[in-house]
Amino acid sequence: MDILKERILREATVVNADVLKLDSLLNHGVDPELTMEMGKEFAKRFAGRTITKVITVESSGIPVAFATAYSLGVPLVFARRKKTLLGDADAYVERVPSFTKGIVTDLIVSRNLLAPEDSVLFIDDIIANGDAARGLLKIVEQSGAKVAGIGIVLEKSFQAGGRTLRELGYKVESLVRISSLEGNEIVFE
Ligand code: G4P
Ligand code: NA
Ligand code: NA
Repeated sequence: MDILKERILREATVVNADVLKLDSLLNHGVDPELTMEMGKEFAKRFAGRTITKVITVESSGIPVAFATAYSLGVPLVFARRKKTLLGDADAYVERVPSFTKGIVTDLIVSRNLLAPEDSVLFIDDIIANGDAARGLLKIVEQSGAKVAGIGIVLEKSFQAGGRTLRELGYKVESLVRISSLEGNEIVFE
């Protein structure tokens, strides 16, 4: 998506060789019009696949996942991220490390929000190592639902997340892929 590349070049800052800061678009703010365009683009890329639900992780995945669900005309489910686990019989729970926060959290999805008949599209804003994605996919699979595909706004392709998911056989579509942040420079693939 060229418009997204332009906005990234104008508005993102490179924090270090691994981390990009994109507060105006993904991490701290939302451009509604551009976000709706992202949703349309994901809907287009997964056209032809049966999708009954979109799923994401709170918080920064929610706007683009909402836009995608709106374009597809299906409901959105977002996993909650919690620091503690007191066990919850009514929920699926997966423990995942967080790349930027350096902590371990639990992803939680209520059992009554996913059914074996569902075919679920996972949408997220950024993929790094893919730990959150793999955790969420485990939850979808535990529910008996199918994974229809994975849509990522920004894939940092120098980290293993996207590649690993493709190797597992998932269809992964990224709107923008960044191959390097070395030397303070954003390099698109
Ligand atoms: P991974 O599984 O792909 O390794 O990464 P993970 O999802 O653990 O990433 C944890 C959080 O870090 C995510 O937000 C993700 O969006 C964010 N993140 C990963 N790489 C970058 C980056 O280069 N820049 C920025 N700004 N964020 C990055 P989250 O924990 O789900 O929190 P929230 O922001 O959605 O609330
Ligand atoms: Na985030
Ligand atoms: Na996220």
